[in-house]
Amino acid sequence: MSAAARFATPINASVPPARAGEFRPLALGGLRISPPVVLAPMAGVTNYPFRALCRQFGAGLYVSEMITARGFLNGNRLTGLLASSQAGEHPRSIQIYGSDPLDLGRMVERLVDEGVDHVDINFGCPVRKVTSCGGGSAIPVKPRLVARLVRAMVRSAKHVPVTIKMRKGIDETTSTYLEAGRVAQEEGVSAVGLHARTAAQLYSGEADWDAIADLKSHLAVPVLGNGDIWEAWDALRMMRTTGCDAVIVGRGCLGRPWLFRELADVFLGREPAPPPNLGEISAVMLDHAERLVAFFGPRMGILQMRKWTSWYTKGFPGSAAVRARMMEIESLEDLRGLVGDLDPATPFPLHALRAHRGKGTRVQRVALPHGYLEQRDDDTPPRGPHSAEELEAWESALDAG
Ligand SMILES: Cc1cc2nc3c(=O)[nH]c(=O)nc-3n(C[C@H](O)[C@H](O)[C@H](O)COP(=O)(O)O)c2cc1C
Repeated sequence: MSAAARFATPINASVPPARAGEFRPLALGGLRISPPVVLAPMAGVTNYPFRALCRQFGAGLYVSEMITARGFLNGNRLTGLLASSQAGEHPRSIQIYGSDPLDLGRMVERLVDEGVDHVDINFGCPVRKVTSCGGGSAIPVKPRLVARLVRAMVRSAKHVPVTIKMRKGIDETTSTYLEAGRVAQEEGVSAVGLHARTAAQLYSGEADWDAIADLKSHLAVPVLGNGDIWEAWDALRMMRTTGCDAVIVGRGCLGRPWLFRELADVFLGREPAPPPNLGEISAVMLDHAERLVAFFGPRMGILQMRKWTSWYTKGFPGSAAVRARMMEIESLEDLRGLVGDLDPATPFPLHALRAHRGKGTRVQRVALPHGYLEQRDDDTPPRGPHSAEELEAWESALDAG
């Protein structure tokens, strides 16, 4: 296919595919990830069914959604299900949310015993309920606390690679990524992931790829760049302009799991085929729904599927009425019937490539505990949820955030 016929937005119209040997596999401890592509941990999204679907299209590392250490250790049924996998998932990768070194160490020990191949810790969650207690994206404000938490995980992980995922900082005046990255490296992480936005930005605006380049120039361990990979070509641009060692793909793959096939193509030096038309997408959507129902059961699987239908059909002209009805499906049969109302020949709309999915564009003033920014040398773990009720409220806030 000539570059002129490429299905890409103008910013990517003439990006060359990878040259042979241009990008190396990502080395994470003993793992080799090729192409150097990571599915971002996303709450309510990167459960086993979606990871397995994405893996069918491409290759790379597919990370679980964040799993609350306290819920996992308490034996919470849903937390256990979300942390679970099925035979054949390799490498198996789990993101942990927690702020108590003892919890983190115990959880990692159990995961390693279960055969997990990689663990990541969430230092980027911007949800108010979390940061106002000093958790999530508030943690990197305190480098000694970062060191304690990472140390606990690395010790328990033995041969299994540990990574962190963080944001640039709290807001434009409180940048934390360089110091937190340096400390994590000293404590033995195998790589550092940077979502190049502040907690105040949430998911709005453009990710600041210069910060990824900056982090890369300060660290010896691999740096994973994150933010605004909407088209496979974006991944090559990010790696070329920042020098990062791998890309983490978030919202771009919501309702577009074939993005991983396109990523595999461009990293192999090939022009990807054009995206699927609405008929082919309907087949993927039904496959996804069946996987969700098999994993979560009929009721919960279908409830989860509702949001996916709007991502799969996003931007398709004339789909508004069907989309609205898809948000009310009660069964696989309902979905099969509605899919029959779509015109299968409709091509994928170009403008949908960069249409934002999953999160809005609001910004926030980050809530922190009183006097928090004046206690940066403190390494006391923040208080997490204790009772079952607190944990439940906490987990639903994480999901909503
Ligand atoms: C629905 C949703 C859920 C998310 N949940 C998590 C999470 O559990 N852990 C985490 O580290 N980041 C989470 N994130 C942030 C993403 O991992 C990623 O950093 C962010 O979306 C930026 O990448 P993008 O610009 O490619 O979307 C979530 C993002 C979305 C859209």
